[in-house]
Amino acid sequence: GSIAKYVLKMPVLPDLRPHGASITTDYYRMTMEEAYREVIPGFQTKVNTYNGHFPGPVINAWSGRRVVITQTNRLGVPTSVHLHGAHVPSSSDGGPMDLIAPGGGTKTYTYPNKQAHANLWFHDHAHHLESETVFRGLTGTYLLRDEVEARLGLPSGQYDIPLSVRDARFDDSGQFLFQMDDFFNRQVVLTNGKAWPYFEVAARKYRFRIFNTANLRSFQFALADNSPFTLIGTDGGLLAAPYTTQSVLLSPGERADIVIDFSRYPVGTELELRNIIPQAPGTPPDVSQVLQFRVTRTERDHSVVPAKLRTLPALPPATVERSFSLLMDESSPEPAWAYINGKEYDPDRVDTTIAYDTTEIWTVTNANKIAPHNFHIHLVQFRVLERNGVAVTEGAESGLKDTVFLRAGETVKLQATFTGYRGVYLYHCHLFDHASMGMMAQMEVV
Ligand code: C2O
Ligand code: CU
Repeated sequence: GSIAKYVLKMPVLPDLRPHGASITTDYYRMTMEEAYREVIPGFQTKVNTYNGHFPGPVINAWSGRRVVITQTNRLGVPTSVHLHGAHVPSSSDGGPMDLIAPGGGTKTYTYPNKQAHANLWFHDHAHHLESETVFRGLTGTYLLRDEVEARLGLPSGQYDIPLSVRDARFDDSGQFLFQMDDFFNRQVVLTNGKAWPYFEVAARKYRFRIFNTANLRSFQFALADNSPFTLIGTDGGLLAAPYTTQSVLLSPGERADIVIDFSRYPVGTELELRNIIPQAPGTPPDVSQVLQFRVTRTERDHSVVPAKLRTLPALPPATVERSFSLLMDESSPEPAWAYINGKEYDPDRVDTTIAYDTTEIWTVTNANKIAPHNFHIHLVQFRVLERNGVAVTEGAESGLKDTVFLRAGETVKLQATFTGYRGVYLYHCHLFDHASMGMMAQMEVV
């Protein structure tokens, strides 16, 4: 049946407060457990939560100040909590085999936060299970701030809003319906845990930190009147300078930090945020709708978007080049395999050995004819040097990235410096269903 749009109010994701603090560290507790929540109007859907929240709460971290989180797993399956985009010791990286036992197991993760500001997020990474546990709700937001960002005067407080956007599929009783690699049938778009919600705004500037937390779906976000907005940051924090655009494309796992100025709209305006990515024939138009802004009042606005945001770290010369090819079975509707360089993920195999503190260039190709993929590397923030042989000089891929989109047949050239920690880390396609099918591999920094 069809779901009424712009009926549910979009919640602002709740902040999680630390239960303790020392001079150097904030201490948090989180419990993964099931709950029932109104995700579509009139139904109570069984969801996975962190501390009862669907999606999970927001951790507010400060660069250089440590965060320690003790996670308890009260779900019926093992879990592993990965902080996406974070520079962390391998022991706290939440690898696919580093599992927290169901029914009350615990694990304590230490996040040193020795990195610049960035919009990070956490999600389940338990091998073969993460596509379903994430689909059912195991995602949360982790905002890492620093002085560089804080002194710019960007919209802040109640004008700085994370948006966790994803799709989902429901059965007739309003319960989640999960099937592996079921892209086409996941046609309900959720923001902050609600289907097609509305959000009331004042006629002023807002900062929206958009997270694509979907398993498979990419979104190209645009305002319904096609008016421009300002892209200020991506996965690894702010761009060097703001970039004016009419849309921003996010594949699963990617983030966009944008500023929308509603001051040009009269009070009473209703304005949709839309998804303008081309859809396959037969896709319902709903998939192109995301949420509705309602301009309900005027307000003073002292925030600014400065012409210079930050200085990006210099690119050290690369000493090693490697190539990676992503390929999955396209011969049957239900793909049997998904490979990186011809191999399925094997936790007992190290695929790539990297010397500590070296800089490498990775050429990554999507070898499929139809299927999109993307590519995420743990531990590092990388730079996108080229896409399909063309140098990247401006826009959303000119900043620091940890995940990059690859349409069928596309190639990107990435540069990363592997330093700070030694150990085993993952790289993989961040379309969770593909990762669950084996499109993951391991690197060891030695
Ligand atoms: Cu967001 Cu290995 O993951
Ligand atoms: Cu993929």
